Amino acid sequence: MYKTSVIKINEKNIDIEKIRKVAKLLREGKLVAFPTETVYGLGANALDPKAVEKIFKAKKRPADNPIIVHVSDEDMVYKLAKKVPKKALVLMKKFWPGPLTLVLKKSDIVPDVVTAGLDTVAIRMPSHKVALVLIRESKVPIAAPSANLAGRPSPTRAEDVIDDLYGRVDAIIDTGETYIGVESTVLDLTSRIPTLLRPGGTTLEELEYVIGEVRLHSIVIAQKEMKSIIAKSPGMKYRHYAPEAEVIVIEGKSDEVKKKIIELVDGYKKIGKKVGVMTVYKSHEYKTDIIKFIGESLKDVAKNLFTSLREFDKEKVDVVLAEGVEEKGLGLAVMNRLRKAAGYNIIKV
Ligand code: TXA
Ligand code: MG
Repeated sequence: MYKTSVIKINEKNIDIEKIRKVAKLLREGKLVAFPTETVYGLGANALDPKAVEKIFKAKKRPADNPIIVHVSDEDMVYKLAKKVPKKALVLMKKFWPGPLTLVLKKSDIVPDVVTAGLDTVAIRMPSHKVALVLIRESKVPIAAPSANLAGRPSPTRAEDVIDDLYGRVDAIIDTGETYIGVESTVLDLTSRIPTLLRPGGTTLEELEYVIGEVRLHSIVIAQKEMKSIIAKSPGMKYRHYAPEAEVIVIEGKSDEVKKKIIELVDGYKKIGKKVGVMTVYKSHEYKTDIIKFIGESLKDVAKNLFTSLREFDKEKVDVVLAEGVEEKGLGLAVMNRLRKAAGYNIIKV
């Protein structure tokens, strides 16, 4: 059991003394949850294998799921990667700091526990001011997965981190809500054609505009559980983002989706279930226990997705019926998370 301190920091007016104290904790091998523009991360000194091991324990994360290393300047990249290809330089210049993670061949200083034994390392430079200043002040690269218990929706608020990790980490920085709400895009640059391993805050369209062809790993667009994935990004094979409730995704044209959901609500109510509906159309009304409108723009939907899934759990619904969105722009990341949360329980109408 850890004694966890919760430290409030104002991103608009950063108290550098507070940051220095937390940076010192990181240098001492302690665990610190901190905000990024995507979701909160659970950080430890990436060059200290003992510290990184503690991340796996705190999150109950399977040891074969590698962790992203966060940097505050490009020099750190040259230390962590054996080779920085030209496309990486172009992408760093265009999208960093920001929600893009690049997978590169790793150098010898990266401990095996960080990469789960792979010969590659995933690196990103977050744009959240508090994250950047914290990494800079700690003077080491910071290994950080999302700051949730393994399998739970990623945390977009410090309260979510507290729910999952209070008593399991040394400190939690609270800056309020994160901005993007889904995690970074993970792009593998070690294959001849860059491969998208996880869609996220940087869209496929933006990437292709800058570097040309990008291959989609089959798991990115998976419509069903893929038991036989070669573990290119081992994290991909685990059930993820799942609230306790059963989640069903309903995909199709607005009217058809509405009709189907009305029918499903009816059916579940008849057998005494508490039903939540997550809608992306303001005009859709349902006679159900709880209805959450999470936004009409993809930006809003992405931002509110994980938060809403966590809220449904707190409200103890048995079933969540979620309306799908188009797989364009941020929609690719949204549908990837939603389908996983549903354990690929998808109804197409
Ligand atoms: O936005 C984000 O990326 C957040 C914030 C905290 O930065 N972090 C995050 O970390 O989402 P995590 O651990 O929840 O997800 C990292 C993903 C996993 O799917 C993992 O398998 C993949 O990145 N990954 C990490 N290192 C890898 C590597 N060397 N090769 C391939 N995939 C890797
Ligand atoms: Mg995660």
